[in-house]
Amino acid sequence: MKKIGWIGLGHMGLPMAKNLKNAGYDIHVWNRTLEKAEESGLPYKEKLEDLIKEKDIIITMLFGSESVKEVYSQIFDTGIDIKDKTFIDMTTIHPDTAKWVAEEVIKRGGNFLEAPVLGSVIPAEKGELTIVVSGDEEIYEKNLDIFQVLGKAIFYMGNYGVASTMKLINNTVLGSFMAVLAEAYAFAKKVGIDPKLALDVLSNGAGQSLVLNAKKEKLLNEDYSTHFSVSLIHKDLTYALDIAQRNKYPVFLTATTRELFNSAKAHDLSEKDFSAVLEVFKKLSNMK
Ligand SMILES: NC(=O)c1ccc[n+]([C@@H]2O[C@H](COP(=O)([O-])OP(=O)(O)OC[C@H]3O[C@@H](n4cnc5c(N)ncnc54)[C@H](OP(=O)(O)O)[C@@H]3O)[C@@H](O)[C@H]2O)c1
Repeated sequence: MKKIGWIGLGHMGLPMAKNLKNAGYDIHVWNRTLEKAEESGLPYKEKLEDLIKEKDIIITMLFGSESVKEVYSQIFDTGIDIKDKTFIDMTTIHPDTAKWVAEEVIKRGGNFLEAPVLGSVIPAEKGELTIVVSGDEEIYEKNLDIFQVLGKAIFYMGNYGVASTMKLINNTVLGSFMAVLAEAYAFAKKVGIDPKLALDVLSNGAGQSLVLNAKKEKLLNEDYSTHFSVSLIHKDLTYALDIAQRNKYPVFLTATTRELFNSAKAHDLSEKDFSAVLEVFKKLSNMK
């Protein structure tokens, strides 16, 4: 049985680690804030180094590039021999970070897969994420069983950096889609259309989508309890803009959408669900 060490028990990491535990893997978790590990109901290690020492496969699910660099640097600083251990990062990071981690792990004799996920908390709980994976194909094949527990659509993407880039491109659609749905919903309310009726029509019309299905109740009830935070989408769009700039590819919609989420951050909505972008449209149009 594969011995898995799981790092990061946020909104996504916790249900994903639970699915691996329920699938019968020998798993221990570690989280920077220890209480989350204690409350997870999962076997945990207090010290990161104990997790690294004892496990063959280490999976990270952190915030973004900075946290991934920080945690991998801590792992390397322990001086533990990582030869033949496999590291899988599932965080959404800048492709440069994925390449950096790959290089640092491989030069120490370890294996690395970059495997960001598409889908949010509910698909994570159901083991129905979409997973895009870059790295050595043989290592990917050897670990497919893990991805099959966590997701239902799994794509092998080839070289390091490609999976992260594709994930970020996906999130340009996600961010702009969420923003336009919130804009349309606020528009309908502003002109006096019954909010529930407006959402029902949009759901059966041009708004029909996974995003609207997932966010309909949140918009209607202005329930911004977090599945995917404003700060996460803002991070992803910032990485996407950087890649677009470097490739001299203009992304007009993504640039505007990033600023909408920047505005949500300015209104202290960073930790709220990204459907809270509705509040930006309400404030801009002087709506209650
Ligand atoms: N939420 C979604 O719907 C969704 C969907 C697809 C992909 N993603 C991506 O999946 C990743 C995780 O998302 P999430 O929603 O689970 O995020 P989250 O709830 O904010 O959790 C972030 C996790 O990273 C840890 N962390 C942050 N900075 C750290 C550092 N410097 N050192 C050590 N640990 C650190 C946090 O530890 P603490 O508990 O100590 O803060 C926490 O465990 C992100 O890259 C996100 O973009 C999210």
